[in-house]
Amino acid sequence: MKRVPAPPEQQPDTFAFTPENLALAEQHVAKYPSRRQASAVMPLLDLAQRQHSNWLPRAAMDAVAEMLQMPRIRVYEVATFYSMYNLAPVGENLVQVCTTTPCWLRGSDDVVGACKAKLGIEFGETTADGKFTLIEVECLGACVNAPMMQINDDYYEDLTAETAGAVLEALAKGEKPKVGPQNGRHASEPAGGPTTLHAYTGDA
Ligand code: FES
Repeated sequence: MKRVPAPPEQQPDTFAFTPENLALAEQHVAKYPSRRQASAVMPLLDLAQRQHSNWLPRAAMDAVAEMLQMPRIRVYEVATFYSMYNLAPVGENLVQVCTTTPCWLRGSDDVVGACKAKLGIEFGETTADGKFTLIEVECLGACVNAPMMQINDDYYEDLTAETAGAVLEALAKGEKPKVGPQNGRHASEPAGGPTTLHAYTGDA
C-alpha cells in the first residue's frame, strides 16, 4: 500500500513537544553516548506521533531532526520506511491486518473480508465517522497466533471472520474487547492444552 504524506492543507505549520513529552524525549536521548543522539530517532518519532493524534506531520519530523541534530532527510527516511509511523491522519482505531504468509495460510483472507464488510471500507480508507482506518501490514511478529490484527497498541490473535468482526463491533460500541487470542487459548500455548511438562501442570 502506498504511504503518502498528508496534503499541505492538513499539515500544521509547527510542532513542539509538550513539557511532559519533552522530558521523556530527553530521557530517551540520554540513553545514548554523546554524538550518538540520532539513535533516539525512533522513540522520539513515536512520542511525537502519540502527541499528535496518532500521525506524524512533517513539522513533527522536522522538530525531531532539530532536537537530534540530524539532517531532516534522515528522519524522513525512517518515518516513511516503517509502517508504525502514520504519515497522514488516521481514525480513532487504526486496524492493521497482517496478511503475510503465516497469517495468510491461517485465514487472513477471511479476516480481511470481515473487516472490509463490517467497516464498509477498503485498505487505506477511514470510515466516515472517523472511528476506524483499515490498513494491510506485513508480519507483526505474532505468527504463532496467526491470523492476527493490531488495533492501536493491542494485538487480537487467533482470529476468524466472526471473532474479528466481533472485536470491531465491540470497539464501535465504545467497549474494550479482550486483547490476545480470541479462540480461548492462553497466550501461545498449544491450542489443545499443554503437550509436555504435565507433571508440573497437573495434567498428567
Ligand atoms: S505473519 Fe502475521 S504475524 Fe507474522
